[in-house]
Amino acid sequence: MSDRLLNLTLVVWRQPGPAEVGRFERYPCPGISEHMSFLEMLDVLNERLLRDGKDPISFEHDCREGICGACGVMINGVPHGPQAATTTCQLHMRHFRDGDEIVVEPWRARAFPVVKDLVVDRSAFDRILQAGGYVSVRAGSAPEANTILVPKSDAELAMDAASCIGCGACVAACPNASPSLFVAAKIAHLGLLPQGQPERTRRAQAMVAQMEAEGFGHCTNHDECEAVCPKEIPVRFIARLNRDFLRAMLTAPTPVPLRKRPA
Ligand code: SF4
Ligand code: FES
Repeated sequence: MSDRLLNLTLVVWRQPGPAEVGRFERYPCPGISEHMSFLEMLDVLNERLLRDGKDPISFEHDCREGICGACGVMINGVPHGPQAATTTCQLHMRHFRDGDEIVVEPWRARAFPVVKDLVVDRSAFDRILQAGGYVSVRAGSAPEANTILVPKSDAELAMDAASCIGCGACVAACPNASPSLFVAAKIAHLGLLPQGQPERTRRAQAMVAQMEAEGFGHCTNHDECEAVCPKEIPVRFIARLNRDFLRAMLTAPTPVPLRKRPA
């Protein structure tokens, strides 16, 4: 396999901690193989920084195969970079040109505060899930759950929604820093199935209330979230979220307990 080598310059956001002032730093990155992933390129740069006795760039990752949602960063102003339907870990350097300058930043949203460099605190998503992203019925084992028949069209839509990996790119792309696509995916994933019906109304109310409490914005139909979502979650799920929320407010508005961000 031929190996085209790229000479790149990275401009990376460096921030030592949540309360400290950040700045961009430039790093020449010569001899980068086009077959490397974006994270492997950062690994190569970090090895060099360590050899030189410098602080390596902090970034988040886990699976490196597009399924855990840990790895997102802004690449030239676009969440997860230039390749559609692709997480940062699955983005390969062949999509860049020799001589490119690449700007790398963390997600920009008040509800995702920077922890260090490219790492942000996405625990707000966990608290939104704790507020309503679950079912309380006992579905039993897989064979028992399968005795409840689900229309194929609903099962497929629920699977589409369940492919959300909670990466936060939708928030990063939205001018309102809205997590509506993430919340809508969870609402659809659970609300399309029979097991998700008992909490369906309360779920929408509780998750929207928690999303507001975390400081996220609301959807105003820019659709930037759908454009950058690595799992191609469609914005039509947000219409479903809005319908469930409206039904909750018309039929059973109840105070919902909110979870606080740990100090
Ligand atoms: S909806 Fe898409 S962009 Fe948003 S968290 Fe889920 S996978 Fe990521
Ligand atoms: S590291 Fe898991 S999705 Fe990228």
